[in-house]
Amino acid sequence: MQSVNQQTLNTLLEHAHGAMKHAYAPYSGFHVGAALLATDGTIYCGANIENASYGATNCAERTALFTAVYAGCRDFSALAVTCSGDHVPYPCGICLQALSEFCPGSMTVIMQSQDGITETMSLSELLPHAFTKEELDTTI
Ligand code: THU
Repeated sequence: MQSVNQQTLNTLLEHAHGAMKHAYAPYSGFHVGAALLATDGTIYCGANIENASYGATNCAERTALFTAVYAGCRDFSALAVTCSGDHVPYPCGICLQALSEFCPGSMTVIMQSQDGITETMSLSELLPHAFTKEELDTTI
C-alpha cells in the first residue's frame, strides 16, 4: 500500500465528513461522503446524489472522482469514505471500477463508519481484478 501518513488520512476523513452534509439522499437516508487526495495535494470531495429513478443515483466516490477529473486532475494518492451508517462503507463495485481507471492499485482507501469504526485497505485489495484498457487491446 502506498504510504500516506496518518495525519493526512485524518484530514481526508474530516473532509469526507464535511462532504456528507452535501448528500442528497431522501430515498435511502444513507449519507456518504468521499474525499479524494490528488498527488498535487488538492482534495476533491463528493457526496451521494440520489434520484427518484433509483438507478440514476450517483455514489459519493464517483461524485468526487468525476469532479476531480473534470477539473483536469488524473493522479491520486488516497481516498477517504465516511457514512451515516454503523458499518464500514466499503465502496461499491461500480465506484471501485471507476476509481481503478485513474488511481493506482496501491492507493490507500480509508473508510469510517458513523461511530468511528475505521478500516484502511489498498484499492487493489478492494478490487483485485479491475477491468482495464489492456483487456480492450485484445483483437478478434
Ligand atoms: N452509496 C455511495 O455513495 N457509495 C457507495 O460506495 C455505495 C452506496 C450511496 C448510494 C445511495 O445513495 C446510498 O448509498 C444507498 O445505496
